[in-house]
Amino acid sequence: MMDIEFVRSRFIKHFDGKTGRVYTSPGRINLIGEHTDYNGGFVFPGAVDKGIMAEMRANGTEDTVMAYSIDLKDRVDFKLSDPAGPKASWARYIYGIALEMRKLGAPVKGFNIAFAGDVPLGAGMSSSAAMESCFACGLNDIFGDNKISMWDMVLAGQATEHNYCGVNCGIMDQFASVFGKAGCLMRLDCRSREFEYFPFKPDGYRLVLLNSKVKHELAGSPYNDRRNSCENVVKAIAKKHPEGTFETLRDCTWEQLEEVRAEVGEEDYSRAHFVLGEKDRVLAVCDALLEGDYETVGQKMYETHYGLSKEYEVSCEELDYLNDLAKENGVTGSRIMGGGFGGCTINLVRADLYQKFIADAKAKFAAKYGHEPEVIDVVIGDGSRRLC
Ligand code: GLA
Repeated sequence: MMDIEFVRSRFIKHFDGKTGRVYTSPGRINLIGEHTDYNGGFVFPGAVDKGIMAEMRANGTEDTVMAYSIDLKDRVDFKLSDPAGPKASWARYIYGIALEMRKLGAPVKGFNIAFAGDVPLGAGMSSSAAMESCFACGLNDIFGDNKISMWDMVLAGQATEHNYCGVNCGIMDQFASVFGKAGCLMRLDCRSREFEYFPFKPDGYRLVLLNSKVKHELAGSPYNDRRNSCENVVKAIAKKHPEGTFETLRDCTWEQLEEVRAEVGEEDYSRAHFVLGEKDRVLAVCDALLEGDYETVGQKMYETHYGLSKEYEVSCEELDYLNDLAKENGVTGSRIMGGGFGGCTINLVRADLYQKFIADAKAKFAAKYGHEPEVIDVVIGDGSRRLC
């Protein structure tokens, strides 16, 4: 984790010398269940030991925010009453979450904030959700008497993405960042919002991310197009079956998807085909985990990679290559993690194969693309909290 004193020293230096309160929120991994959250399906994320840390303090003004990004060495001041908000994309997370927290009833006024992160940006580990939940946690504590519930903070983070950052994301990332628990993955039903903690200590295996360093940027990416494809299919099925209720692909069967295939076209069909398969795979992985059957878990991860690459089309050459390298090295399971279009693969690898796999993947990837992938060992950490 980052050093509190490091963040504090910058907070003191860039504002009026006073200290505030310090909060942190993690990024996340996801074992399986990709692009299922906005389709009402299941996801299987966990928080990591890396994230965002922010020092915050009310500054006595009605609505002036003074914000400093320690990593970017960039200072932006803005007013919450300015309808356009700040231009800098990092500052829009602060502006957006503050307004969303106000909507929920927290009387947010002007504040100072300095923050830094150690979760790699654009790696598909949800650095943006880590920001939203960290800032939400701080605003709830400083202005809201901690009356805003954890779920409402999750939704405020998601609304920030939708309303101020242009990404029509689901709830997985913000959920994992707020609710994370050390040592546990969480199985979340994104429709009912029920979830369970699953202690995750795979004996004899390790979870490791390989970051391709191809920047994953969801804003303005075809992420929103994928979501639209899924919604088109649901609409077509609902039209054919006026007797039923079809809100998301969660409500649709394989047969119903086949019925509308010609009508929706091959592209939308393939997208929905992936999502229905993924819904089944998450449940199969839960069963396998309960039995300690990591071979099945791994096989499902490979199936997910195939679907994300060939049906959902959110992979890229570098990620497909990392997946091939995992297969060649006998890695139990490997797949793209997160929204796609770059970022990491997540790999479930037997401890005895780990060293050889990492050395081989680094050397071969570097020979092909001119840089090594970044190796990130997964440590499942806690969710959003105040540190001091
Ligand atoms: C991004 C989004 C999530 C989810 C994943 C894909 O991380 O923010 O809501 O849709 O992509 O599973």
